[in-house]
Amino acid sequence: MKILVTGGLGYIGSHTSVELMHQKYEIILVDNLCNSNEKVLENIKKITQVMPQFYKIDLTDKVALEKIFKENTLDVVIHFAGLKAVGESVKKPIKYYTNNLISTLNLLEMMQKYHVKKLVFSSSATVYGNPGNPKYTESMGRGQTVNPYGSIKSMIEQILEDLYASDNRWCIAILRYFNPIGAHESGLLGETPNGIPNNLMPYIMQVASGKRKFLNIFGNDYPTKDGTGVRDFIHVVDVAKGHVKALEKIKKEGHGIYTYNLGNGIGYSVMDLVNTFERVNGVKIPYKITARREGDLAEYFADPTKAKEELHWETEKTIEDMCRDSWNYEKNN
Ligand code: NAD
Ligand code: UD1
Repeated sequence: MKILVTGGLGYIGSHTSVELMHQKYEIILVDNLCNSNEKVLENIKKITQVMPQFYKIDLTDKVALEKIFKENTLDVVIHFAGLKAVGESVKKPIKYYTNNLISTLNLLEMMQKYHVKKLVFSSSATVYGNPGNPKYTESMGRGQTVNPYGSIKSMIEQILEDLYASDNRWCIAILRYFNPIGAHESGLLGETPNGIPNNLMPYIMQVASGKRKFLNIFGNDYPTKDGTGVRDFIHVVDVAKGHVKALEKIKKEGHGIYTYNLGNGIGYSVMDLVNTFERVNGVKIPYKITARREGDLAEYFADPTKAKEELHWETEKTIEDMCRDSWNYEKNN
């Protein structure tokens, strides 16, 4: 079985590639390296002993993309490629709509043309909007999104539903990730954000390594257990393994459209993450309490029951593992 992994050199794509290779799947990676670099390929090889096939192309370039479909007989596509900085998407919406939508439309067009009708798509908990109940269940459906990044994820989910309605030979898994953090235990794969990190764990790591003096905690007056925001942090390797399970599901079913939350089902607060990071790594994280960040919700976490029952997938890693592996990667790099 040959799998095309778009965004395969990125944070979640690289971890998923390793898990797929551990299961002996043959993979072809595609990336334009706008948020990754070719060293990731070497590191995937160090972990798996196999160098995967790689095409450096931009998915908005339909001609280059078609060449891959002509040169290879593909069975499945796992589509990670996309820009993912929420704040930047607010400032540069056209850049985000162009890259993320055109890439996806080109990919779907090529899949249709070359009769590759099995797809796993990276969606996000952000598509729930603000449903009122902090425990997000797939049956809640999509809500009102609050930034271009989230709106595009929601639009792509709609596009996939319309595509399936037009031709029910497609088999599509939509995976809604909560907050992936952590890194590969080898210290060879992880997340290296460009510039000032927006997300919590990358910021904590830069404080831990002395690149930044302190962490800003955005509000401690939320109606949560300690006043700080609560999220469902999930180890990136558990997220990667969720893709292998989703792949098995679509292979077995043959057709259909299936949506799953990938989360732990546990809400940890910002203070929980800071305290755990300090405890397991023996590193101090100085912090200041600042104003709430616009657009943030107080608390949300996944109901992971559907993925457990239908994919036979459950998270294996703890919050301690997430903190230890993140720091191990940061120190190695
Ligand atoms: P990432 O930026 O590390 O990986 C994405 C990869 O896609 C990068 O290597 C980038 O170079 C590549 N890419 C972007 N545009 C491309 C294009 N036009 N052509 C070819 N390659 C292109 O991001 P990630 O954290 O691994 O996220 C993967 C997917 O999961 C994204 O779709 C993201 O929106 C989604 N997601 C991520 C999170 C998260 O917290 N990391 C949460 C929810 C959903
Ligand atoms: C963000 C995105 C979401 C995306 C998710 C992927 C926003 C508004 N939302 O979610 O669309 O799917 O990443 O992981 O960007 N925090 C601090 N200080 C910091 C950074 C964060 O206190 O320097 C707090 C935030 O207020 C929040 C928590 O940490 O309570 C988590 O924040 P973050 O890592 O940015 O993720 P989300 O906002 O949940």
